[in-house]
Amino acid sequence: MVAGVRCQSMSEHAPFDSAKYRQVLGHFPTGVTVITAAPRGEPVGLAVGSFSSVSLDPPLVAFFPDRSSSSWPKIEAAGAFCVNILGEDQEDVCRRFAMKGDDKFAGLGWEAAAATGSPLLDGVIAWIDCEIHSAVDAGDHYCVMGLVKELDVTHDGPPLLFFRGGYGRFAI
Ligand SMILES: Cc1cc2nc3c(=O)[nH]c(=O)nc-3n(C[C@H](O)[C@H](O)[C@H](O)COP(=O)(O)O)c2cc1C
Repeated sequence: MVAGVRCQSMSEHAPFDSAKYRQVLGHFPTGVTVITAAPRGEPVGLAVGSFSSVSLDPPLVAFFPDRSSSSWPKIEAAGAFCVNILGEDQEDVCRRFAMKGDDKFAGLGWEAAAATGSPLLDGVIAWIDCEIHSAVDAGDHYCVMGLVKELDVTHDGPPLLFFRGGYGRFAI
C-alpha cells in the first residue's frame, strides 16, 4: 500500500452517494471484452469493460472481476485467460456474456488459443492470451493481472463501446 493512503470501506466512511459514483464513472467510455477460460476443457467467460494494458516489460494486462462473478473462480482455477476484444457488430455477444448461466457458449463459434487453451471467440477484433500473473483484493472486486503469452489482431473493424450505460460505435 502507498504510504499515507488508506482505502476505507463505505461502512467506515461518511455516507457515500453510490448512485452518483455510478453516474459519474459512467461518463468514462470503455471498450468491451469477453474474458474466457477453459478449466478442464469447459468454456467459461464474462463480459468485462474494466480491461487495461498495464506493462510492456514484462507484458502485463489487467481486469477487475466482481466478487459476485461466478466465472472468476473458474478462470482462476484454469490459471489462464484470453481477452477477446469485441467489434461493433458483437453487441449480442456482449449481452450473452453479461448474463449468468452455463450455456453462454451455446451456438457460438470459438477455438482454443494455442498458448493456454482459453476460448478465442469468432469475429473478435483482437485477442490477448494470458497466464494469470496475480490476483489481489480490490474492494468489492479483484484486481487480476495477466502475463501475455500470445496476442494478435484478427481484423481492423471498429470496436464496440460502452458509455453512460449504453452501447455505442466509434466515429471520427
Ligand atoms: C459493458 C459491460 C462491462 C462489464 N464489465 C464488468 C467488469 O469489468 N467486471 C465484472 O465483474 N463484471 C462486468 N460486467 C458484468 C458481468 O459481465 C456480469 O455480471 C456477468 O453476468 C458475470 O457473469 P458470471 O457470473 O458468469 O461471471 C460488465 C457488463 C457489461 C455489459
